[in-house]
Amino acid sequence: MTQTSISKVPELSPRERLIIALDVSSSLEALSLFEELKGEVGAFKVGLQLFSAEGPEIVRTLVERGAKVFLDLKFHDIPNTVAMAAVEAAKTGAWMLNVHASGGSEMMRRTADEVHEFCQRSSLMPPKLIAVTVLTSTDSQMLHEIGVTRDLGSQVVELAKLTERSGFDGLVASPREVPIIRNAVNTDGFLVVTPGIRPTSATKDDQKRVTTFAEAITNGADYVVVGRPITKALDRVNAVRELLS
Ligand code: C5P
Repeated sequence: MTQTSISKVPELSPRERLIIALDVSSSLEALSLFEELKGEVGAFKVGLQLFSAEGPEIVRTLVERGAKVFLDLKFHDIPNTVAMAAVEAAKTGAWMLNVHASGGSEMMRRTADEVHEFCQRSSLMPPKLIAVTVLTSTDSQMLHEIGVTRDLGSQVVELAKLTERSGFDGLVASPREVPIIRNAVNTDGFLVVTPGIRPTSATKDDQKRVTTFAEAITNGADYVVVGRPITKALDRVNAVRELLS
């Protein structure tokens, strides 16, 4: 397999490419992690756990304090519902939002149209819209379990092409799949965001398709999301510095 290009945002430093997952259950813990790590990393991710606990207010608070926020709610519903939810999410000031690519092109196109129209009307910078291809906790057995008979790589590539055709800014995929994605998409600046990062292969938690931070960047990822290896470390600042070095 040949890799046509590496990262599409080459001007970013490793630090700017690192997004910390604030997978905690309260604003207090989230803001404490933010204050501890804000000088060390590029952005913070608010996912389902924190959002279910604290709602959009935590996103607004982080944005007010100067954070770039990736709002990781992985929307997947009928096109109108996802598009309207994405407009509400954009109102929080989030820098990046996502949906599941398996929701289909109509869902993604409608979302992109509504969010861009709203942001233009409100003179807001539109958030980066990205789509999850196949979760990094999924393996081929799990894909078969839900009726997907294509192999995992082909499924990722087909969803990547669908995302590109639907006017989205990029996608989320396993760091291992970045080379095949870079081969399959042509849009300049198409973003690839990769979770599933572990310092070594020893501690994977529930992630299955993992690499190290350095491998992910070398493979061509633009942004890398890391949660537990940093947030559960005894010395978090040191854990970030080790990861980046
Ligand atoms: O703790 P860990 O580093 O595994 O956290 C990874 C984060 O990235 C989690 O918040 C998870 O929800 C998210 N994520 C993922 N796989 C995707 C999309 C998002 O692991 N495909």
